Amino acid sequence: MAKKSISEIDPLGKVVLMRVDFNVPQDDSGTITDDRRIRMALPSIESVLKRGGKLVLVSHLGRPKGKGPEPEFTLRPTAARLSELLSMPVSFATDTIGADAELKIGQLKNGEVTVLENLRFNTGEKDGDPIFAQKLANWADLYCNDAFGTCHRTDASMVAVPRAMGTKPKVVGFLVAKEIEYLSEAIANPKRPFVAILGGAKVSDKIKVIKNLLGICDKVLIGGAMAYTFSLAQGGRTGKSLVEQDKVGLAKELIALGGSKLVLPVDTHIGNSFSSDCQKQVIKSGAIPDGWEGLDIGPETSQLYAQLLRDAMTVVWNGPMGVFEMPPFDAGTKAVAEAIAKSHAISIIGGGDSAAAIEQLGYADQVSHVSTGGGASLEMLEGNRFEAVDILDDK
Ligand code: 3PG
Repeated sequence: MAKKSISEIDPLGKVVLMRVDFNVPQDDSGTITDDRRIRMALPSIESVLKRGGKLVLVSHLGRPKGKGPEPEFTLRPTAARLSELLSMPVSFATDTIGADAELKIGQLKNGEVTVLENLRFNTGEKDGDPIFAQKLANWADLYCNDAFGTCHRTDASMVAVPRAMGTKPKVVGFLVAKEIEYLSEAIANPKRPFVAILGGAKVSDKIKVIKNLLGICDKVLIGGAMAYTFSLAQGGRTGKSLVEQDKVGLAKELIALGGSKLVLPVDTHIGNSFSSDCQKQVIKSGAIPDGWEGLDIGPETSQLYAQLLRDAMTVVWNGPMGVFEMPPFDAGTKAVAEAIAKSHAISIIGGGDSAAAIEQLGYADQVSHVSTGGGASLEMLEGNRFEAVDILDDK
């Protein structure tokens, strides 16, 4: 059932507790290297601020131990980045349910925003502790979930907090609504042909996605290192490629289940070591000599996949085709990204590596949607429901 949106509530003069996913990558000096998750939350943030709400943002960052502050996991840099993006001051509380949070929230005037320190510095966040959750809920008149990247988690701020809000409104933010629209609704009623292209290292990470998508797609194209486990299942030679020996039986099952829907690489780009300057050759799939490893799909496969993607009306892509951070083994991923960008399909790019690849290659604005979720977008492609969304108010 559709969920009530942040646009449907009046935040004027109210404290809005918004769960965002500001779990952004940083370099060793703490500089944010990709602020997309912050930028994608801006529509919800600005909507509350423009309408005079007092906005309290909560998030996790990384995986601290939950036993108090750990400087490398502070959210302070995200507050600074948000302040730049909004061109207005953003205050920062050095705790989550303590005196500084109380002070900073109390100081908020209509249209102002504060960021509280990392939720996961409190053990109650991962434990889903109702007492911790109640304290957070007590700050707020309204709760909004705009943390798509965390929607597959049942952390306190995702489930126990909205529960602790009782009859106070708990709504969905624009980002979460958009992610669901693409990763769930567009896929449930796809325009056809519907082509999924799945890459990445391990079959085991993608079993449920492959099974779910085989049930609804017209074609499921396979790339990345997991293609070598499929190759092994077909009796091919894979040299020293990354394979999951214990998943060969499963790969056989998926090949039988998929029939002509499941499309495997016909050639592969191999190297004699895992480096850009190794010796290289392109050979047929299943014919990798000893001492060599597969590092990308080959040019014939790239062409075949590009053609299938260009003719598609709905495309879902999750996982690179090869070692795209190590040229020339980025060629397959590039070819796929370009074909998706050129197609007229509704194109949905799963989070993580494929989102990074499409951004890096400059095609992000030529696709319909680039997900901000890694694990969350994968789980949605598996067909899972999220308690963190189900618990929100229906329209
Ligand atoms: C992510 O980056 O996938 C989300 O922020 C969730 O983080 P987690 O895997 O540490 O729960």
